[in-house]
Amino acid sequence: MSERWIPFDVTDADANPLAQWNRWYAEGVEVVREPEAISVATADGTGRISSRMVLLRSVDERGFVWFTNYNSRKGNDLHANPQAAILWYCEPLGRQIRIEGHVTKVSDEESDVYFDSRPRGHQIGAHASNQSHPLTSRRELENRVVQVEAAFADAPIPRPRHWGGYRLVPDHFEFWQHRTDRLHDRVLYDLINGSWQLERYAP
Ligand SMILES: Cc1cc2nc3c(=O)[nH]c(=O)nc-3n(C[C@H](O)[C@H](O)[C@H](O)COP(=O)(O)O)c2cc1C
Repeated sequence: MSERWIPFDVTDADANPLAQWNRWYAEGVEVVREPEAISVATADGTGRISSRMVLLRSVDERGFVWFTNYNSRKGNDLHANPQAAILWYCEPLGRQIRIEGHVTKVSDEESDVYFDSRPRGHQIGAHASNQSHPLTSRRELENRVVQVEAAFADAPIPRPRHWGGYRLVPDHFEFWQHRTDRLHDRVLYDLINGSWQLERYAP
């Protein structure tokens, strides 16, 4: 781990965890190759957990948004259990951020705007790929792409109903800062009765 860490205390932390996220994320953008890559963990109705990387597409006071196939494993999990945990790691600065909360689908309009901004090849892929379902071969997927291309010809490609955004609405954050003495700094935020409470935790 890099030695470019800087100590982090409750007194350094912004009272608003979103502002704190924005600060660390902006510093991460300078040093991480794909800073928008986050892990999202979900659990199904039986409590079985799975996690995967997705790309964070927007962050604001409403929450953290990524886009995917609503019929995927994560989509099924979130349908059964609309809660998730995000993990973000910034190795060069020795930082980890954990975010938890409930998850809602973004509005159709918001998904449409994002879908329309995607390159045509991505739009075709969203129609062609039955994400997280078995394929007999790569050829099956390629054939499906050819069919979708033919179906739309030169027409604009509409967003498939099964594809769109999820927004995690946070009620918990943890900011973790590496230190060489191993006594790492951890600052946790919990949303209690509508306001954020900060606490330092043991590493
Ligand atoms: C860096 C990275 C970014 C990814 N971004 C996305 C994404 O934004 N949306 C998505 O559906 N899958 C994305 N994937 C693929 C997912 O990790 C995963 O394979 C896929 O969504 C199916 O997951 P599920 O079966 O758990 O639903 C990404 C993978 C990597 C490695």
